[in-house]
Amino acid sequence: MEKSIGKKNTAIIISGKGSNLRSLIKYSKTKKSLIKIVLVISNNSNAKGIQYAKKSKISNIIVKYINKKKFEKRLLKLLKGNKVELICLAGFMKILSADFIKNVNMPILNIHPSLLPKYKGLNTHYRAIKNNEKYSGATVHIVNKKLDSGKIILQERVKILKSDNEENLKSKVLKIEHKIYPKAIIKFLADH
Ligand code: GRF
Repeated sequence: MEKSIGKKNTAIIISGKGSNLRSLIKYSKTKKSLIKIVLVISNNSNAKGIQYAKKSKISNIIVKYINKKKFEKRLLKLLKGNKVELICLAGFMKILSADFIKNVNMPILNIHPSLLPKYKGLNTHYRAIKNNEKYSGATVHIVNKKLDSGKIILQERVKILKSDNEENLKSKVLKIEHKIYPKAIIKFLADH
């Protein structure tokens, strides 16, 4: 595959709705974009997000998660075969193994719906509200072998109001996610 000059060949990996994928596609279409999305991968055949890739005529594929070993083997092949240089996880709900992270030999970024290092893992909004946090937010970080623990690239916070519940906090944080993921990519690529 031809590599467009100056742009990083990027794969986005999703599991679900794909609103972050949509924001990354939008960014990738801007003149100043530093990435070219060459492949969208979903482990979930019902992922609505795959439609965004289809609409934008971006190569997309479902890789069924039979087990971690088989899934990651297939992933590696696809990433190498498409000359991918950067991986962005966007609502990807599986945990990549340390071996995969090492063998893939390219940066992997992830977006997480909390102000890391607080609230790693699942149910972040529920836990933030339950603990009476004043703020929540979103974080883009580099993926390493410890869950949600890699170097933070960018983070932005949002106030939690007394009237907020899990659902509307989720949508407030998602809005921030859509804003900071492209910014974090720009920041990351400036240093790498
Ligand atoms: C986002 O909140 C992301 O941070 C989390 O899962 C959600 C995915 O949303 N890991 P979407 O599929 O990008 O709409």
